[in-house]
Amino acid sequence: MAMRRAGLFVLCLALVAVAVAATRWLPLARDEVHDPAGPGIGLLQEPAEALGWLPPDNAGNQVRWMQALDQGHINPRSQILPSTQVNLRSTDVLLKNSGEMPMVRFPHRQHTAWLDCSNCHDKLFERTAGATKINMFLILQGEKCGLCHGAVAFPLTECTRCHSVPRGSPEALAFGRGLVLGP
Ligand code: HEC
Ligand code: HEC
Ligand code: HEC
Repeated sequence: MAMRRAGLFVLCLALVAVAVAATRWLPLARDEVHDPAGPGIGLLQEPAEALGWLPPDNAGNQVRWMQALDQGHINPRSQILPSTQVNLRSTDVLLKNSGEMPMVRFPHRQHTAWLDCSNCHDKLFERTAGATKINMFLILQGEKCGLCHGAVAFPLTECTRCHSVPRGSPEALAFGRGLVLGP
């Protein structure tokens, strides 16, 4: 009986997954955010039209934004005023306090492609590898990485996108005794 129930449950999950894949983005009139009788419906661009041609993701708003940028599908403006200096950095920082999970590789290149140093330094994070107190509790409360991830960047359900460096793996050994890997 238990087995049969488990089978049914898996079947239901599969059906839900198919339904989600088929709808991917709900029409604005059915998203329960927009007023279906409001004047904006029919004028606003539908998310499926705006996002449907970008590299797909199965989390968050269903777009793999880093690929969209790196593959040149989008080319966002990097500054409003021509005088604004654009700062890039491409070091990766290894955050090791990840308990039983693989360690976290924080990539500067991907972040400075969208953000300025001042978005993170030095209020959110120290400019010294290993100096900032970060943990999953803070992140789940919307602090540190959680200020953006789950809000405007890929969600916290995607554990392995951050926890990507198993201990003892070639990626881990590349850092040697250090916490920072240069470009
Ligand atoms: C999305 C947030 C974010 C942005 C944007 C960002 N950083 Fe960082 N930075 C971090 C985090 C997280 C660490 C690791 C902190 C720790 O380990 O305590 C770090 C570490 C550093 C470090 C020490 C490690 C290293 O790479 O040598 C320096 C220096 C640094 N950042 C400079 C910069 C500069 C310069 C910019 C802009 C070009 C920048 N950061 C943009 C989050 C960010
Ligand atoms: C946006 C990036 C990100 C995502 C997504 C993420 N984590 Fe973390 N996690 C971190 C960082 C950063 C730390 C702290 C590492 C450090 O300070 O050295 C951490 C720490 C941890 C720790 C160590 C103990 C603790 O409570 O801090 C565990 C366990 C953990 N994460 C589990 C998970 C699991 C399970 C998921 C998915 C449900 C997840 N994490 C998703 C970034 C992330
Ligand atoms: C100020 C906002 C902000 C903060 C804080 C932030 N991120 Fe991000 N992160 C982004 C954005 C925006 C992207 C690119 C869009 C996306 O991938 O969803 C990104 C992308 C990433 C990627 C690259 C994904 C890829 O496909 O290459 C990783 C890994 C990541 N973040 C981990 C972290 C970790 C770990 C922390 C905390 C130590 C953190 N981020 C803090 C905004 C932030």
